[in-house]
Amino acid sequence: MIKAVIFDLDGVIIDTAHYHYIAWKRLASEFGITLTPAHNELLKGVSRMHSLDIILSLGNIELPLEQREQLAEKKNSWFIEYIESIRPEEIFPGVVELIMNLRAKNIRVGLASSSKNAPRVIELLGIATQFDTLIDGTMITRSKPDPEIFLLAAHKLGVGPSDCLVFEDAEAGVEAALAAGMKCVGVGSKDQLGKANLIIKNTGDFNIQSINTI
Ligand code: BG6
Ligand code: MG
Repeated sequence: MIKAVIFDLDGVIIDTAHYHYIAWKRLASEFGITLTPAHNELLKGVSRMHSLDIILSLGNIELPLEQREQLAEKKNSWFIEYIESIRPEEIFPGVVELIMNLRAKNIRVGLASSSKNAPRVIELLGIATQFDTLIDGTMITRSKPDPEIFLLAAHKLGVGPSDCLVFEDAEAGVEAALAAGMKCVGVGSKDQLGKANLIIKNTGDFNIQSINTI
């Protein structure tokens, strides 16, 4: 029996994954690197510094830590600019209803995002009170695909890993959920998320009646 559902944020609840992409693309172009959607799949769910290292490795560029930290900060300042205009209406269709329906079934609901900006995004969306626990990138030491973030969320929710179902749009996130011993719904395409127990196109497509048969 699923006792808790843990949602990723970027790309599962709102299309902030797009803002991460355009900010990284802008930074990559400064190094003559053309970031493609295929490259971007490698960045989803991955921490800011690790994402930067992946991008620099595409151009065989090696830089000292101090300079990499400045670049990561630059990308983040653009991302923050982009997200400031997001509004609750931009939450993906059906997500608020899904969370309400889960809560009505006494299923606990958590958020587990690798993003250090997750608290700001959740604040802008006005949905903080919908979650029993909120885990963000400031609370973990190892980013997805490490299972740390989901194990911490389960612990905070007071349930075991096998009682949890995770919603993820990132390959690294699906791997993290499975490594945690949880079931995982992949939101997106089979090409990237083939390891997930179920794949749906949009978060709002999930049929809550099927929750214990995944
Ligand atoms: C994840 C995103 O949610 O957060 C990644 O999928 C992003 O693309 C990561 O790099 C870290 O985000 P932030 O906001 O801390 O730079
Ligand atoms: Mg995501």
